[in-house]
Amino acid sequence: MTVSPNAPRSPIFAANWKMNSGPSEARTFMRVFLTRYARRPDRTVLIFPPALSLAAVRDALRERTDILTGVQNIHWEAKGAFTGEISAPIAADAGATHVLVGHSERRHVFGETDEQTAKKCAAAVAAGLVPMLCVGEKLEERERGETETVVVRQLRAGLAALSNAQIADVLIAYEPVWAIGTGRTATPADASAVHVAIRAELQNVAGEHGRAIPILYGGSVNAQNVRSLLDAKGVDGVLVGGASLDAEGWATIVRS
Ligand code: 13P
Repeated sequence: MTVSPNAPRSPIFAANWKMNSGPSEARTFMRVFLTRYARRPDRTVLIFPPALSLAAVRDALRERTDILTGVQNIHWEAKGAFTGEISAPIAADAGATHVLVGHSERRHVFGETDEQTAKKCAAAVAAGLVPMLCVGEKLEERERGETETVVVRQLRAGLAALSNAQIADVLIAYEPVWAIGTGRTATPADASAVHVAIRAELQNVAGEHGRAIPILYGGSVNAQNVRSLLDAKGVDGVLVGGASLDAEGWATIVRS
């Protein structure tokens, strides 16, 4: 399947299920969600289930090629003795078109480094997957006024191994760590300020190729706040955790 995430500037709604919903739950979710969300040309829907539930989600999408799927993490090596890991070619073979890279839980729970995110982005692109590079500052970094410094560092490092033309096809998610799973959302103005800085840096790094890269906001997005966040300048979509786990609720968000 050809994926061209940057073609129309329509909002992207991405669900990150994290470590929730096995294949049975995933099947039930998809049955309900697909009845509540009819195909719409003016938005892109993307689901990141646990890798073991990817097949169940994809089975449900046979008639709904408008909805894209991805995995939440990959290893940077293509194959080998890395017990428990999933490579980009394996994810692509299983039907994933996208992959989250550098999610804050990977960085702060599992100690993933900037260098590793660069290797993962490169491995994803080499396997034909679209990486969604996640960046975001911790609360103490925001309080010290370091938000932009941290985000720009993560961005530059994560994209370091890609050519400008390859950078044009990535997705970026700005997820302030203090807003993830806390019920505390960045205000549209706060999100906007960081998105504008990210856009400037993308153009700094990749010139014209950085102009249309979608930048999603994530962190306690729900049906009540999604509209105001999507209306904020520079916000091209949302990456949703907790509120994407309920099929009806997710359909409400995606239809907003
Ligand atoms: P919540 O929507 O649960 O805050 O999670 C955000 C997130 O980390 C999505 O990747």
